[in-house]
Amino acid sequence: MAAGGEKIDYVFKVVLIGDSAVGKSQILARFAHNEFSLDSKATIGVEFQTRTLVIQHKSVKAQIWDTAGQERYRAVTSAYYRGAVGALLVYDITKSQSFDHIPRWLEELRSHADKNIVIMLVGNKTDLEDQRAVTTEDASELAQKENLSFLETSALEATNVETAFQTVLTEIF
Ligand code: GTP
Ligand code: MG
Repeated sequence: MAAGGEKIDYVFKVVLIGDSAVGKSQILARFAHNEFSLDSKATIGVEFQTRTLVIQHKSVKAQIWDTAGQERYRAVTSAYYRGAVGALLVYDITKSQSFDHIPRWLEELRSHADKNIVIMLVGNKTDLEDQRAVTTEDASELAQKENLSFLETSALEATNVETAFQTVLTEIF
């Protein structure tokens, strides 16, 4: 029993990774507190938030870890991935460079995380459709090739953020 009499069946650690400014921290703020800020500051080190939800009649505590996309502010890599059972690999649909770096992030994931980790590719900022630089088709193709689930989200408009986490957490089950 957790404090308050809440029964937790599972605790799942999920990590957020991807280039700086793709929206990792805002995706987390949306999921954990239904909040969003346009003047979000770059993350320094590592932060985490938890939210308990019910999945397939079980109470699941999702512990979501967030670190800096910028190399110099990043957390110690091995500690960050330790025990993670899921990952959201985020790029910004308006920044092709953030998509071009996905293979690098995947390589880091695959060398540091558990080999059974559930990975979802997430194209964020769909509210900026007029500035789109990465097509849904290209991303979907990469996801298929790398065996990842794939969704496009908007932390600003709260589109698909809930679904992205729900999908990863359900796949972990
Ligand atoms: P690092 O901590 O440096 O790795 O960056 P991050 O990936 O955590 O990015 P962050 O969440 O701080 O967001 C960067 C900027 O993008 C901020 O100005 C956010 O407000 C903005 N942003 C995040 N998500 C969205 C979105 O869905 N739509 C739009 N339009 N802006 C977003
Ligand atoms: Mg951040």
